[in-house]
Amino acid sequence: MKIRVKNYKRFYITVAFFAAVAALIIWGIFSLVFHVFKPAAAVRSIEIVQPVQTEDTSTLSHEEDDLLMLVNKQNAIPDGYVPADLVTVPLDSLREIKLCLEASDALEELFAGAAAQGYQLICCSGYRDYDTQVEVHNTEINTYGEAAADLVSAPAGYSEHETGLAVDITSASVNYDLVEDFGNTPEGQWVADHAADYGFIIRYPNGRESVTGYTYEPWHLRYVGKDVAKEIMSQDTTLEEYLESKASNS
Ligand code: DAL
Ligand code: ZN
Ligand code: ZN
Repeated sequence: MKIRVKNYKRFYITVAFFAAVAALIIWGIFSLVFHVFKPAAAVRSIEIVQPVQTEDTSTLSHEEDDLLMLVNKQNAIPDGYVPADLVTVPLDSLREIKLCLEASDALEELFAGAAAQGYQLICCSGYRDYDTQVEVHNTEINTYGEAAADLVSAPAGYSEHETGLAVDITSASVNYDLVEDFGNTPEGQWVADHAADYGFIIRYPNGRESVTGYTYEPWHLRYVGKDVAKEIMSQDTTLEEYLESKASNS
């Protein structure tokens, strides 16, 4: 009798042991399969528009644009500022967007350069007037609370999007979202490597929040012209630091 009880014990221990081993093996196989063959995230079905430029751009001049205009948490855009040469950007977009003529032309070239390498980029947001920025910023505050919203979204009067020189871009690989992961996609990496060749900078680089006031936004490009863009991007610096060093050297 005693022996039988002992055997039962041993039997249960053995079964439990093999069950645990089997569970471990199954768990291992599952995690390996899901790691290696990550199920593709469902791509948001989205309507991409290709707006048509309706403005007569031959009459527009962007000579009055200050391509190096500094707009950040400390520097508001001049009261009532509206760029004189806004045009519809004739590129694949989530909605019709406008930019200053020179920035729009440069973005067309950038998108063509990306497409030539097999990367499809999509415009998400360009020029915003004051009232639109009020709406955008309030939506962020209602979603994330004021403190978190202020790290990713400017209050009206303080957004680069009000200059007509800033554009948010995205790609299918991040579901057409504006997320930090865009910086890790082949499209985002191509943009980081080549934006300056077309006159754009990544305006809010990773880890530079103490300077720019905003967390990493690999999707937010600011047009500054080729020379300045190349200097800023090759030195891994920011528009704030570039302007400060120019001021102290003059
Ligand atoms: N996301 C940038 C900071 C803006 O709202 O202008
Ligand atoms: Zn312009
Ligand atoms: Zn932006």
